[in-house]
Order: sequence, then C-alpha cells, then structure tokens
Amino acid sequence: MGYTPEQQAYAARLRALFGGADAPPLAFVDTYGCQQNEADSERLRGMLFEMGCGFTTCEEEADIIVINTCAVREHAEMRVLGNVGALIHAKRKKPNQLIVLCGCMMQEPEAVEKVRRSYRHVDLVFGPHALPRFPELLWKALARAGRIFDSDGGGGPIAEGLPVRRGAPPRAWVSIMYGCDNFCSYCIVPHVRGRERSRSPEAVLGEVEALVRDGYTELTLLGQNVNSYGKGLTPAVDFAALLTEVCRVPGDFTVGFMTSHPKDATRRMLDVMEENTKIRRHLHLPFQSGSDRILRAMGRGYTRASYERLIDDARARMPDLDLTSDVIVGFPGETEEDFADTLSLMERVRFHNLFTFIYSKRPGTPAADLLDDTPPAVKRERMARLLALQKRLREENGELANVDT
Ligand code: SAH
Ligand code: SF4
Ligand code: F3S
Repeated sequence: MGYTPEQQAYAARLRALFGGADAPPLAFVDTYGCQQNEADSERLRGMLFEMGCGFTTCEEEADIIVINTCAVREHAEMRVLGNVGALIHAKRKKPNQLIVLCGCMMQEPEAVEKVRRSYRHVDLVFGPHALPRFPELLWKALARAGRIFDSDGGGGPIAEGLPVRRGAPPRAWVSIMYGCDNFCSYCIVPHVRGRERSRSPEAVLGEVEALVRDGYTELTLLGQNVNSYGKGLTPAVDFAALLTEVCRVPGDFTVGFMTSHPKDATRRMLDVMEENTKIRRHLHLPFQSGSDRILRAMGRGYTRASYERLIDDARARMPDLDLTSDVIVGFPGETEEDFADTLSLMERVRFHNLFTFIYSKRPGTPAADLLDDTPPAVKRERMARLLALQKRLREENGELANVDT
C-alpha cells in the first residue's frame, strides 16, 4: 500500500483547500497507549503538516481533533470515551470542528458501534490499518455531509514513506515491525493490530541514518515483540542481525528497543548487546506472572525457570543491566499461591522498574471465556501488596520508589 501517489494527491488537495482559508487550520493530536501509538501519532502529525495544518495543544482552539486510541485495557477505553464525550461542548461552540477517532480501539467492532450510535459528534473513525489513507479519509469527511467509518482491512505491505513529525532531538522512535502473532490469551493487540509484519532492514537503516544526520542521539526500536523481527523477510534476517547493522551506522548515538518477549529473546541478541557499546544497558522483558500455571493459561510460551535463566545469563554478561518488566495481577483463576510466585519472582529478579496492571477482560480474547471468580477487592489487595514489595525492593536498591500503574 505505502504512502501512495493517490494519498499524496489528497494531501495536496487538502493543502490547496486549507491554503484558501484566512489562517491554516489547527490540529490537536491526542495519543493514548503505547509507544507504537506515539510513533503513529508522529505520522498523523506528519500528514497533517503536509496538508498545511498548524498544531495546537488546546482542544477548544483546534479545527481538527485527532484522538489516537488504545484498547489494551478497559480503563484506557473508558478514558477515551470520557474525553470524547466531553468534546461535545467544544464542538457546540465551534460547529465546524472535525473530530477524528483512530487507533486500536477503532479496530474493535463493538467500540466502533458505540461511537456510531452514541457519539454522534465524531466525524471520522478509522483503525490502525487505514492510517496510510488518512489524507483520503479526511478529504472525504470534509467533502461529504455524512460521517466516515473505515475499520476494515489489515495485512498488506507496510506503508513506507509516510511523512513524520517528531519531537525535537535527542529521542526518536523507529518502528521495526507492526502487529503481533502471539495471541497471549488476555491480549487484544493481535486482534486490533493484525499479523506481524517486519520492515525491511534497508528501510530501518535508512531511517536510522537520517535520524542520526538530523541530530537524534537516543533511538528506540519499536515492536510488540522485537525478538521475532524478520519473520517472513527474504533474505533471512533476525533481530540480532538488524541490531548489529544499526550499531554499524556511523555517528554518536545510542540505541534501545522494546518490547522483548522472553520466549524469543536469544543468546545472540545478548551477544550483540554485550559487544556494542551503542546499545543501552536496558531490557524491558515482561514476565506477566511468576506462576507456571498462570503463564501456561496466558499462553506466554516460557516458564518461570527459563525466564530466570535468561535474566541470570543477561546479568552475568552485563552486570550494569537495567531490567524493567510488566506484570498482570488477578488473571482469571490466579490463586494466592500463584500470586505468591509472582512476588517471589520479583524478589529474585529485583526489577529496576515495573509496570503493573490488574487483569482487564477484553471481549473476543480466549481469557474472556475463563471463569474469573477472584473478587475485585482481593485483586486490589494483591496489587497493593505487589506495589509495596516493589517499593521496598527499590528502596533497598537505593533508588527512588517510582512504580508505574
Ligand atoms: N507486546 C508486549 C506487551 C504489549 S501490551 C509484550 O508482550 O510484552 C503492554 C502490557 O499490557 C502487557 O505486557 C501486559 O502486562 C498488559 N496487558 C495487556 N493486556 C492486558 C489485559 N487484558 N489486562 C491487563 N493488562 C494487560
Ligand atoms: Fe499482547 Fe502477547 Fe502480543 Fe504482547 S506478545 S502484544 S502481550 S499478544
Ligand atoms: Fe494500546 Fe494498541 Fe498499543 S491497544 S498498548 S495502543 S498496540
């Protein structure tokens, strides 16, 4: 698909349209969710800039409001819907304001239906797959009286060449792959982001070279599971090989990556980290649970013992390694014993930082069909114990207690 001449022509038409106005329209882009969404918002801003828009951080001042949504937990969805609901007031004052909802939540049929029925002030809705067609969709939303919904599709080749508007140096995201094939039983991401697709090494290296030339010095390679980078590409390439090539790009910069999946993190990747001083000494390696029974039910594809071995190996090679992780509390059927396994894994590993989540049921995922009879109060109490432990571990490590929830 790519950023086609057709889309560029729509962007040019919009530029001509907006150029006729007294002042360029102002766009406000609001982003929920993970770094992948942040990176997508940089592309949305890139396309808006090409259309001749300016930017604002004030919703009421904006002519175009773009909300890039996340579906990973119910809480994220409620926040989006709450904020979108509140936009009706801004729009009453500014009836020509265009409200756009995009991103992962807009690839979920139930959420789209809710917006269609109950959020009638939203003008344009599209999912992550339609992002490269943003100029066309925006043109149609402006040109036509009706609302536009486009949450179909998926797959297809990666859209290279989209314009990007990043933040100022030093930090920059570089997406190396999209989608996920893992289907962890609790997770909506593969359902909304589609199958795993890797960018070619040439495209990634070209972007890295350009960023280094532009003065970006802290690069982060992004993917839901960077360790399975390269699947399906010819000639064959894997993440360790890509990382090696990225480090060969001349210039003064560091590179990090996320997210690593414990089942696919290879010794070769650790070798490459060890050998290259450009790679930051940090691994984000979500463990999710310390109980083998729960890990199996989650479909994570590793055991507690194999996770511990990987950590031991990484630390033996790089004693200064920062380890961060994600953990889910209250997965369906989690017993007190399973939870104790999570706490003991934390004691064993002593993470530098932990992103902690109470299990959120995602309709359409296999875990949504499991019996979940742990009372919410028990889950909250487990979460409080987990946070207290992480705080203590960090204090013992002499670090500021700083736990993300
Ligand atoms: N691809 C990454 C994670 C992406 S989602 C990986 O596999 O590690 C980020 C985090 O959100 C996950 O690691 C998990 O801890 C959490 N998460 C995902 N789905 C969730 C759900 N249904 N309920 C609670 N937390 C969830
Ligand atoms: Fe979700 Fe699992 Fe894929 Fe991560 S690896 S995005 S948790 S399905
Ligand atoms: Fe959310 Fe989509 Fe990222 S569901 S966590 S924004 S891939």
